[in-house]
Amino acid sequence: MKPGERIILALDVSGYDEAIDIVRKFREEVDIFKIGPELFTSVGPGIVEEINSIGKKVFLDLKFHDIPNTVCKCAVAAAKLGVFMFNVHTLGGLEMMKQAARTLTEFCLEKNIERPMLIGVTILTSIDQAALRDELGINIRMSTHVKYLAELARRAGLDGVVASPEDAEIIRPRFGKDFLIITPGIRPSWTAADDQKRILAPRDALRRGADYLVIGRAVFSQPDPVRALKRIKEEIAGA
Ligand code: C5P
Repeated sequence: MKPGERIILALDVSGYDEAIDIVRKFREEVDIFKIGPELFTSVGPGIVEEINSIGKKVFLDLKFHDIPNTVCKCAVAAAKLGVFMFNVHTLGGLEMMKQAARTLTEFCLEKNIERPMLIGVTILTSIDQAALRDELGINIRMSTHVKYLAELARRAGLDGVVASPEDAEIIRPRFGKDFLIITPGIRPSWTAADDQKRILAPRDALRRGADYLVIGRAVFSQPDPVRALKRIKEEIAGA
């Protein structure tokens, strides 16, 4: 994959026109754009079709976390919309993930449409070891817990997981190259960490086994975002 194919640019804005402007500005630089809850809740599903019509792919990052029946219906809705990738929360449990994966495959076969990739969120990159223990009451090493959740996702038939760049190093050797790892929390040395606790530079994240890098503020907080993205692409070339 070329550097531009490995980057998922986060459309963390609330305006339709603002988001489409970003897609147009970056269309030559990246292939996949991420729609999160803020944009989706603000403007609705039409934006996915618009981005597809520009010839770009969408990662629908709504992190579905609900009972199996509800998540299965969300999976069908995401497939109908034509997203390239979407995610569910692994903490929603094995049965939910299994049923979602099965429903998605059956629906796409029946309709003869491309099956979106189904990804599991492990532990958010804004949660660190102390928060895991003191706030969530999970008294296990972060790496052990993430590995456990990734195993659950694989058993359920998911295509991969969202995990921190550090966790990629633990997941990759155990799960082989066909299991996708998508890593947010990407910060080149020349940017601030913001609310992300478990961060790594783009090149290091790829070296540790990430397939795709989710990038938001590292680009948009810079005075020249397109230049910042190009700089990241240069940094990861050959990683
Ligand atoms: O601005 P920054 O690069 O930190 O943005 C990261 C993006 O990745 C945000 O859109 C955030 O919602 C998303 N994300 C994350 N951690 C996860 C899953 C998604 O930061 N575990």
